[in-house]
Amino acid sequence: MKLLSLVTAMIVSAAAVPISTSSSTTGIVPGKYFDRIVIFVFENADFLRTTNNAYFGSLAERHNGVELTNFVALTHPSQPNYIGLISGSTEGSVDDDKVTIDRETIVDLLERKNISWKTYQQDYPGGCETKMRIGKYARKHNPFISFKNIQSNPERCAKIVNADVLDEDIKNDTVPQYVFYTPNMDNDGHDTGVVHAAQWFSKFLEPRLKEPTFTKNTLFVSTFDEAKHYTHVPNRVQTVLFGPDFKRPSNATTDNKTYNHYSILRTIEDNWDLDHLGLVDRIAVPFTL
Ligand SMILES: *[C@@H]1O[C@H](CO)[C@@H](O)[C@H](O)[C@H]1NC(C)=O
Ligand SMILES: *[C@@H]1O[C@H](CO)[C@@H](O)[C@H](O)[C@H]1NC(C)=O
Ligand SMILES: *[C@@H]1O[C@H](CO)[C@@H](O)[C@H](O)[C@H]1NC(C)=O
Ligand SMILES: *[C@@H]1O[C@H](CO)[C@@H](O)[C@H](O)[C@H]1NC(C)=O
Repeated sequence: MKLLSLVTAMIVSAAAVPISTSSSTTGIVPGKYFDRIVIFVFENADFLRTTNNAYFGSLAERHNGVELTNFVALTHPSQPNYIGLISGSTEGSVDDDKVTIDRETIVDLLERKNISWKTYQQDYPGGCETKMRIGKYARKHNPFISFKNIQSNPERCAKIVNADVLDEDIKNDTVPQYVFYTPNMDNDGHDTGVVHAAQWFSKFLEPRLKEPTFTKNTLFVSTFDEAKHYTHVPNRVQTVLFGPDFKRPSNATTDNKTYNHYSILRTIEDNWDLDHLGLVDRIAVPFTL
């Protein structure tokens, strides 16, 4: 299966026609498919529960998107999924306990190409705070702080910010090219459920999708860390790729190819020719965009 995935990945990469991008905003590194990616990670919901929700279920059709109907999470419980999302492996994290992992992440790859990044964490106080839980903020959903080369580097740490900073960045036209947004334990559905998460997301997202400084040539990704029921095999979750200003080469509204969280990482690596981390990202299947 590994070889097959690799071959599929190569075919997809070779067949994809790059979209020419140009940007007047200084410092933007143009990508093959998009100039910015914004990732939202929600919590613990089975695929059908999410896709049957009026808001999550209509996200693709509302915003020029595609729903991935065969997207599986990496494991249970939460934290290793987040660790995998940015580092290409769950190694070093098997549960939600405090870990500090010493290896490279997407941050290293982005910085080598001068591509800006930030993670917006709801209720995070900033200042390199390493506590596991502060109010409705949970470190297990903030993978960045659990990597040694981010946690111990003040310049990098400063890019883990309270989510309220996003509105300032939208206003100032300084939203970075890689955005990882974690809603708090209520708004991501963890302590509340899909209905609350959907209410929060629609109220949060809809007005901001009208801001060109947020949406310009941007691929938005809405995903869930894991299915709610551990007995559900595969561990299928809803993921939607969308964006009002994303020039999507395909007009498919659903895609039933098998993807997982590493596909997000791999798509980013391919978009900016970032090379890879040499872990599962290397054989992961990138999205057909
Ligand atoms: C990144 O920016 C630095 C400082 O401006 C520059 O020296 C370097 O060549 C840039 N690297 C790439 C890959 O563009
Ligand atoms: C946005 O711009 C204002 C005015 O220049 C500045 O004070 C503020 O720090 C900026 N916000 C961010 C998040 O950079
Ligand atoms: C999708 O796009 C292709 C080519 O761009 C076009 O031929 C086809 O009719 C489109 N399909 C739909 C459903 O819009
Ligand atoms: C999607 O793929 C799975 C197997 O990978 C299959 O069981 C399912 O029927 C497919 N769904 C659709 C809508 O094609």
